[in-house]
Amino acid sequence: MSTDWKSLAPALERCPVIPVLTVRDPAHAAPLAQALASAGMTLLEVTLRTDCALEVIRIMTEAAPDTCVGGGTALTPADIDAIIDAGGRFIVSPGAPSELLAAGASAKVLLIPGVATVTEAMAARNAGFRFLKFFPAGTSGGAAALKAFAAPLADLVFCPTGGVNPENLAEYLALPNVVAVGGSWMVPDKLIKAGRFDDVRDIATRAVEQARSYNSAIRSSTRANRS
Ligand code: 3PG
Repeated sequence: MSTDWKSLAPALERCPVIPVLTVRDPAHAAPLAQALASAGMTLLEVTLRTDCALEVIRIMTEAAPDTCVGGGTALTPADIDAIIDAGGRFIVSPGAPSELLAAGASAKVLLIPGVATVTEAMAARNAGFRFLKFFPAGTSGGAAALKAFAAPLADLVFCPTGGVNPENLAEYLALPNVVAVGGSWMVPDKLIKAGRFDDVRDIATRAVEQARSYNSAIRSSTRANRS
């Protein structure tokens, strides 16, 4: 069922950082995916913000078969279909409009809807979703807001994204309702344009190591039987 996030749980447990990738040149797709895979990243989110994004999803899926490549910035039901057709194995949206939730609930891969408020989280929850993107995390109250969500929304888990970085990653991952963080800090445009994929791998490796040391959320959420 496409609202069941538990199929992603093993990958999230191995690496609770999801890189948010905006790839402008398909030639960068394979070396970028391989660099992130060799850093230990397991889920790769390719945003639909470039004309080549769907091609990039296809290339990355082949180039890094041990990773799970998904599509981000899904704004419409048609985006969901396009990501699935390209081979995307999960879908991320910055928001949670009702038509997207309906399409996601019947899609064959998991949609991770984006929410910034309790009311939005309740709407996504009532549509069956339990794993939500908290976006934009930094300007929506940050870790303190997510901490406050935990009591009334006890069966939800989150991936905060937007303003997450090596300095604040730990405060998010320390929360029991956070199973991953997302961000783009490990894939700066200038390194990708310069073909410096070894540097990308090194930044990503540091992010994975840092995140793994705070990765208690999957275990505690499993204990709490969030589903
Ligand atoms: C996203 O696209 O999901 C976020 O904007 C990524 O945010 P960041 O660039 O602040 O990490």
